[in-house]
Amino acid sequence: MRFSHTIVPIAALGFSVVSAAPPQWGQENHGAPQPHETWGNHYYAQASSAPAPSSPASSAAAPSAPTSSASPASSAAATCPSASAAARNAWGLKNLTSLVSFGDSYTDENRLAYFIANNGSAPPVGYVGPVSTMTASGGRVWPRYVSYYTGCNIYDYAVSGAVCSNEITPRILNAIHANFPSVKEYEIPAFIADSKYVEPNGQKYMKNPADSTVYSMWIGTNDLGDKALLTDSQVPGKTIVDYTNCVFEQLDSIYANGGRYFVLQNIAPLQLSPLYGLPENGGVGPSHYWPDKPSNITEVSYRMKESAVTVNDIYKYQVPYELIVANRYPGAHFAVMDMYTLISDIYYNPSAYLNGTLPANATGWDNHCNLAGNVCARTNSPDSFLWYDELHPSEQTDRIIAKNFVDVIKGASKYATYWSS
Ligand SMILES: *[C@@H]1O[C@H](CO)[C@@H](O)[C@H](O)[C@H]1NC(C)=O
Ligand SMILES: *[C@@H]1O[C@H](CO)[C@@H](O)[C@H](O)[C@H]1NC(C)=O
Ligand SMILES: *[C@@H]1O[C@H](CO)[C@@H](O)[C@H](O)[C@H]1NC(C)=O
Ligand SMILES: *[C@@H]1O[C@H](CO)[C@@H](O)[C@H](O)[C@H]1NC(C)=O
Ligand SMILES: *[C@@H]1O[C@H](CO)[C@@H](O)[C@H](O)[C@H]1NC(C)=O
Repeated sequence: MRFSHTIVPIAALGFSVVSAAPPQWGQENHGAPQPHETWGNHYYAQASSAPAPSSPASSAAAPSAPTSSASPASSAAATCPSASAAARNAWGLKNLTSLVSFGDSYTDENRLAYFIANNGSAPPVGYVGPVSTMTASGGRVWPRYVSYYTGCNIYDYAVSGAVCSNEITPRILNAIHANFPSVKEYEIPAFIADSKYVEPNGQKYMKNPADSTVYSMWIGTNDLGDKALLTDSQVPGKTIVDYTNCVFEQLDSIYANGGRYFVLQNIAPLQLSPLYGLPENGGVGPSHYWPDKPSNITEVSYRMKESAVTVNDIYKYQVPYELIVANRYPGAHFAVMDMYTLISDIYYNPSAYLNGTLPANATGWDNHCNLAGNVCARTNSPDSFLWYDELHPSEQTDRIIAKNFVDVIKGASKYATYWSS
């Protein structure tokens, strides 16, 4: 195992450099009201376990030669549906050696903490991050649970606050004198450098055989959120489609580096989070994550839902398009993991998932902070909550995500749609 299981509280990594108050997500520059500090991560996918592909039956064999019209294609599919469906949906991962994850605070274990503790410098190549028991979930983060549940190595490149690209939705973090490190500009280059790195003892740093390494991408929470697309704060002219195209371009880079198994996690139901929720469902007004939130929080919630479901439908249709029609990733296997439905299932049936001592609670949250974000108090029952704070899933939610992620990579999750090229 590449990662030791030494427990190092995240505070030891330097949040205290920024504030004497107890560490918590999003407070690192609370002294100077800085609107660009939302922590969060997301990515998006959408699924049902047994998709009924409507693309041409012949495309599995000749994916780069699209047929000329849709109707002959569907009759061809009707001719031999099971063979073509099997070819396209052959996930077939035999073994999980490693999980390489990309994303934002929903996935970050310790990277942003490193940047902050080191005045904005990135971790060195070959960095082995400590296990954190104080991530944005209020506890351990889901990739760590995947490693506990499967024994796999994890290489977690996610950074709290990340977006896909700072060319689309840049957000400044004063504590590092720069924009939040993003997937395109930081996470992918860091992964590629690590994947080539040989340690002083002559051993390759990364264990990532193509047939037993899964690459996960869950990015979009910040891209779609406050101080980004939600508030029309993007670089002028950029759109949701620039963001989703960016995601596929990052998958291109992983593919070019040898990645063949991908889990694309879709956008969480952000309109159900307290930060973006409807007022009648516990949605909040101004908070430490968004001190200048507009007064019509219903409008904010509707807009967020619109964005989340739009992105998820783009993923739903673009993944099979890229694999089957465009042949963009020959020999690759994709699972689109439906985080939207998984987290919605917890939201609408919380007592089936949440197991703290307080009543199960999907609309409230565990860690309550003042508007400045420097005085916070947790309940004594974190596992009762879907949300750790106004934006982030709790540790219990992360355990549920990890458990379902393991089912996804086993090829047997109702939350995944599988596509192969
Ligand atoms: C899975 O991969 C690991 C590491 O590469 C290897 O030690 C193990 O034997 C493999 N297991 C199977 C069932 O292939
Ligand atoms: C931290 O980085 C900033 C910007 O790069 C620099 O101006 C400042 O001097 C650095 N602080 C320390 C303590 O090194
Ligand atoms: C708030 O926004 C909602 C949804 O756009 C709209 O129906 C409602 O009229 C708005 N309320 C006010 C007070 O403007
Ligand atoms: C809730 O369940 C998880 C396993 O999913 C367990 O690790 C955790 O300790 C439980 N929490 C409580 C408060 O019992
Ligand atoms: C859920 O938690 C919130 C605190 O965030 C609390 O105000 C609310 O009463 C709780 N709801 C239930 C059903 O316990």
